[in-house]
Amino acid sequence: MRKSALLIAALGFFVVFPRIVRGGDKHPFQPEFLTSDRCVACHNGLTTPAGKDVSIGLDWRASIMANSSRDPYWQASVRRESMDHPESQAAVENDCSICHMPITFHEADLNHRESKIFEHLPFDPGKKENAKAEDGISCSVCHQVSSKNLGTAETFNGKFVVEMPKSKDDRPENGPFQPDAGHRRIMQTSTGGFVPTEAQHIRDSALCGSCHTLKTEALGPGGKQVGALAEQMPFQEWQHSDYPGKYTCQQCHMPEVPQTMPITAVLGVPRQGLHRHTFIGGDFFMLQMLNRYRAELAVQALPQELSAHARETVEFLQSQAARVSILDLRSTTTGIQFDVQVVNLTGHKLPTAYPSRRAWLHVRVTDQSGKTVFESGALNRDGSIVGNDNDADPLKYEPHYREITDGNQVQIYEPILKDYNGKVTTGLLAAVGYFKDNRLLPSGFDKQTAAPDISPMGEAMDDPNFTDKGDVVKYAISTGGVVGPYHVTAELWYQPIGFRWAHNLKPYNAMEPQRFVNYYDSMPDASATVLARAEATE
Ligand code: HEC
Ligand code: HEC
Ligand code: HEC
Ligand code: HEC
Ligand code: HEC
Repeated sequence: MRKSALLIAALGFFVVFPRIVRGGDKHPFQPEFLTSDRCVACHNGLTTPAGKDVSIGLDWRASIMANSSRDPYWQASVRRESMDHPESQAAVENDCSICHMPITFHEADLNHRESKIFEHLPFDPGKKENAKAEDGISCSVCHQVSSKNLGTAETFNGKFVVEMPKSKDDRPENGPFQPDAGHRRIMQTSTGGFVPTEAQHIRDSALCGSCHTLKTEALGPGGKQVGALAEQMPFQEWQHSDYPGKYTCQQCHMPEVPQTMPITAVLGVPRQGLHRHTFIGGDFFMLQMLNRYRAELAVQALPQELSAHARETVEFLQSQAARVSILDLRSTTTGIQFDVQVVNLTGHKLPTAYPSRRAWLHVRVTDQSGKTVFESGALNRDGSIVGNDNDADPLKYEPHYREITDGNQVQIYEPILKDYNGKVTTGLLAAVGYFKDNRLLPSGFDKQTAAPDISPMGEAMDDPNFTDKGDVVKYAISTGGVVGPYHVTAELWYQPIGFRWAHNLKPYNAMEPQRFVNYYDSMPDASATVLARAEATE
């Protein structure tokens, strides 16, 4: 039997599947996927009454999900994993394609084959045969996810069931509305059988939760399974917070247009509740990288679209992600003391999902003349953080702190992975657990009742000041006799791809890892941004 179940952890609530369930291979009509160019002719050209362009195709093509297979970090990482686990190379490529190159994966799976990622790379817009691999998480992927088993372990790891066509030319494209027969026919004839169909599960967080839940199986020597890692759990984090019933993934990541307007430029009728396909998240850095190296990576979104998307991502991060306050600032006999409080405003941990994301506190104290008397967490030009042991040495890391007394200590909200030899790692398929996970908890998240897959790890678990109401860190600083008043600035920084996660790819002597590290090092100023800040004087 082929190794198709690599990523499906046999542990816990995960089940091993030989192949994706499709209601039986005997069905006379197999699912099909079209590329987005077959959809956007009608679903672009949408402007609000106020004149704002909210075209579905344009919004989508500048999103991270539309570029999930062009992503040079993903390509580098797939190469690294196949070099680390050479005996499992075919299975690694197949499994890494499930969510990042989904049409290629599903078409191969339907034909009982494994999908091969590198056969399609590098992309070349002239080569039509790669169009489906290039199209990333395309329109007809999400809109053909069926409601079957959504939200359960069977459809995690990207294993949603694809809608079965009712006939050769009746393939549902699910949406929230109920188009009339005439409108359905227009889309059906022009797409060769894809029919707009009302299905409310399109608005369910569980639809996103299918690909946004990733449990990997760790591979030891000889490709043997040695453990499993709950690598990405934003859906479970959301479920354990108080957001269900208040905000879905879609409500935060697909903003609603308040006005009534058509959802198609061809024969549209006024609809209330168009949701923009921007899928803004946190990865402003990758959007800028895709833009800068657009020719080499065959990026289709225009430069101004990508820079607008990167800008909107930073705005989203700075307005919706976190709040920072300085509390109890007071002088002591040797210096000053204060608390910094950080609150997560998102619907999951902050940061969440892919483990290279990190946030940290940059705290600076200056005296009356503006001279720095204390600093913790400054960003170096190469993307590393001053005082972070993990950036200096791949086998070390900063603990979670309750109190900071020295500029060499820095509070970093991050996951630190552990491999099967008990060492710190960034190898996704070598990791069996976490040494540290002090990512900030969302509102309503009770760490005592959290399942092991989403529970904080390390010192944060026992820290009474680390809860769903935020993290409070005490700074007790000796100012060495310098006289006040002192001015304190506390900033929460965010970096989608931490220094270590990029630089651990350097030893891999292959095109994709080398190229990615070069890209990373070429954009030192773009790698991080401030989410929130506070200032106070004593
Ligand atoms: C179950 C779906 C799924 C599978 C399977 C999957 N990924 Fe991902 N991957 C994601 C999602 C979702 C994100 C984005 C999460 C975020 O933004 O934090 C992501 C992000 C990444 C990133 C970060 C990209 C960036 O630009 O920052 C890398 C690298 C990556 N994946 C590598 C891999 C590799 C290697 C494999 C195979 C071993 C793999 N992925 C398999 C869903 C998946
Ligand atoms: C990541 C999954 C995903 C992708 C990719 C995606 N959509 Fe959607 N789409 C949705 C969801 C979810 C909704 C419903 C949002 C809601 O009402 O809450 C939606 C809604 C729609 C609607 C109804 C109007 C609206 O915007 O609310 C249309 C039309 C549509 N999508 C077309 C497209 C087209 C065309 C593409 C490709 C260019 C596309 N979608 C790509 C998830 C996706
Ligand atoms: C010839 C024009 C045309 C093309 C091409 C087209 N559509 Fe549509 N689409 C429509 C029309 C018309 C509607 C119905 C609008 C209404 O009733 O408000 C629609 C509605 C939708 C809806 C909303 C369904 C619902 O029930 O809420 C989705 C989703 C959608 N299309 C996706 C796609 C996808 C994916 C493609 C490409 C595979 C595509 N469309 C190609 C014209 C088109
Ligand atoms: C077919 C699998 C799949 C589905 C379904 C899916 N996603 Fe994703 N999503 C991904 C992958 C893969 C990435 C990471 C791509 C990369 O970084 O290269 C991603 C990235 C994202 C990001 C991160 C963007 C950033 O800037 O960090 C957001 C936000 C997101 N998805 C939201 C959603 C929402 C909301 C839904 C449900 C409507 C959804 N996704 C459904 C696979 C999927
Ligand atoms: C209350 C609003 C809210 C809800 C609900 C929400 N998110 Fe987010 N999400 C955010 C904000 C704000 C960010 C940017 C900060 C960050 O990067 O975590 C974000 C970031 C992300 C990222 C980028 C990863 C990262 O941390 O850099 C992914 C992936 C994502 N969300 C997926 C989801 C999924 C899947 C759901 C539903 C299960 C969801 N989100 C629900 C607000 C929300």
